[in-house]
Amino acid sequence: MNGLEVKDVSIKYGKTIALKPCSFTLESGTITGFIGADGAGKSSLLNAIAGVMDFAGQIVFSGYAYHSARSSEHAKKYIGLMPQGLGLILYNSLSVEQHLDYFSRIREIDNDSKFSEFRESLLLMSGLKPFLDRQAANLSGGMRQKLALICTLLHKPKLLLLDEPTTGVDPISRYELWNILTKITKEEQMLVIVSSAYMQEAGYMDKLILFEEGEIICQDSKEELLTSVKNYCYEPVDDLIEGIKTVKHLYSLKDDLKIEHKKPELESVFFVNWLKGGRKFPKISIENKRIRDTGSRYVLKAENITKKFNQFVALDRVSLNLNSKEILGLLGPNGAGKTTFMKILLGLLPYDGGSLEMLNVMIKSYKDRLRLKSRIGYVSQRFALYRKMTIKENLIYFGTLYGIKKRELEDKINEYSRILNFNKWINYFADDVPMGIKQRFSLCAALLHEPRVLILDEPTSGIDVIARELFWEILQQIKDNWNISVIISTHYMSEAEFCDRVVLLKDGVKIADDTVGNLYGKYPEAKNFEEIFLKYYNA
Ligand SMILES: Nc1ncnc2c1ncn2[C@@H]1O[C@H](COP(=O)(O)OP(=O)(O)OP(=O)(O)O)[C@@H](O)[C@H]1O
Ligand SMILES: [Mg+2]
Repeated sequence: MNGLEVKDVSIKYGKTIALKPCSFTLESGTITGFIGADGAGKSSLLNAIAGVMDFAGQIVFSGYAYHSARSSEHAKKYIGLMPQGLGLILYNSLSVEQHLDYFSRIREIDNDSKFSEFRESLLLMSGLKPFLDRQAANLSGGMRQKLALICTLLHKPKLLLLDEPTTGVDPISRYELWNILTKITKEEQMLVIVSSAYMQEAGYMDKLILFEEGEIICQDSKEELLTSVKNYCYEPVDDLIEGIKTVKHLYSLKDDLKIEHKKPELESVFFVNWLKGGRKFPKISIENKRIRDTGSRYVLKAENITKKFNQFVALDRVSLNLNSKEILGLLGPNGAGKTTFMKILLGLLPYDGGSLEMLNVMIKSYKDRLRLKSRIGYVSQRFALYRKMTIKENLIYFGTLYGIKKRELEDKINEYSRILNFNKWINYFADDVPMGIKQRFSLCAALLHEPRVLILDEPTSGIDVIARELFWEILQQIKDNWNISVIISTHYMSEAEFCDRVVLLKDGVKIADDTVGNLYGKYPEAKNFEEIFLKYYNA
């Protein structure tokens, strides 16, 4: 057989079952999506197919059968795997060009004109062409991800396995990536499996395999999946009805409510499955702390901030304000300068020109920022947590850094882990919990010392839809009830709609600063915020 056959494959970590026995066959020349919540078993199965993890059962690819990581050696030269995580396969001290050379050499690719053409198209797609001599360590998060991706694509593996390749990748590059992927899949008759947290991407996939808590619960086309949930999707009304209400839909397992049905989106599949699993949507209720306002309208005032790395201008005279009790979305393609701007706000990077005032303190250096230490909370783009400590030990460590006393800290950790709904995970090692839990934990660590301003750099990247919905509910309530102002970056354009205002950056320059409502006013024909975003960047 020319495709992939997965037969009774199951995976265990010690005594824990990560994946119950599953079977399916896939054909060459097709793209299959693995979709499901964090921790559902997608990555484990991808790793087993890639031959980097042991499993029970049998996998056959292109006539090669294997039963373990070890016995997969002969199939390996046909397999390309990009593991989950921001650019994990990269070497920090190598430049973009050195990476391409290195990966083409270890994959023994002929350096002919066809290859040069393909390499060029990958560089254009990723937008990395102008940065050939930049070291991986100095690339932005999304640029790293794109470099890892093109290194995996270089040798056009017959079996291509991509574990959330578009996490942290901006909408424009995602679009181009999918164009390339669909084209080479057909041309080279590759067999591609992709896991993704962006449900819109399912539109590019020939088949979807849906995972739920270590089990495959269905294998269908996009259309069939949508049809299977359509009876449970309603217009979001205010009445109290058992089910889940999101901004766009009301989901209820009762299919005869006297409410108008609404067309499902792929995200709906998750919510309906959640309900079918007998689960309730956790109710978030964050009590009012009655914290006094800072008194001034602005929490932060940045004027003409300029930042250079040698000759490269990463931020060019960026001015923006953060108002009190506001959620400000900082948007822009990979490398636009979002993280650089946030690091400057935190005093982690010095700036070359302009002025910066936060909570009535002028910030020029890290020393100035230290004066504000207790009033700012930060969640960085790459999760910073100690993997060999439990979640609770991590929290104690971070809380102690902020000088919170032991008794108070214990109480707070108990209270916050309950509010943010991760208390059942608190004694797990940081390495062993799903992404959505890690991210709530990071938010908790940033909140323990009760800051006035929260700076969140892509806190929802790679998080499943349900966890993201919960996260935004938490954020809105924290803003309203704890009087906190937030700057947040994201590549999910649907999340822009939750922000009170958005600032768009392009190559270090601010190109828009407005409420989402006003931006829709400017582009009345736009069906969603992603279309508005693309208008700004394709212009
Ligand atoms: N230390 C450094 N040396 C050289 N260039 C750097 C350095 N740090 C960042 N840059 C460059 O500055 C630009 C802005 O990077 P930044 O990380 O702020 O982007 P970003 O908007 O956060 O992107 P992403 O969406 O991918 O996270 C990029 O071109 C990046 O390569
Ligand atoms: Mg960034």
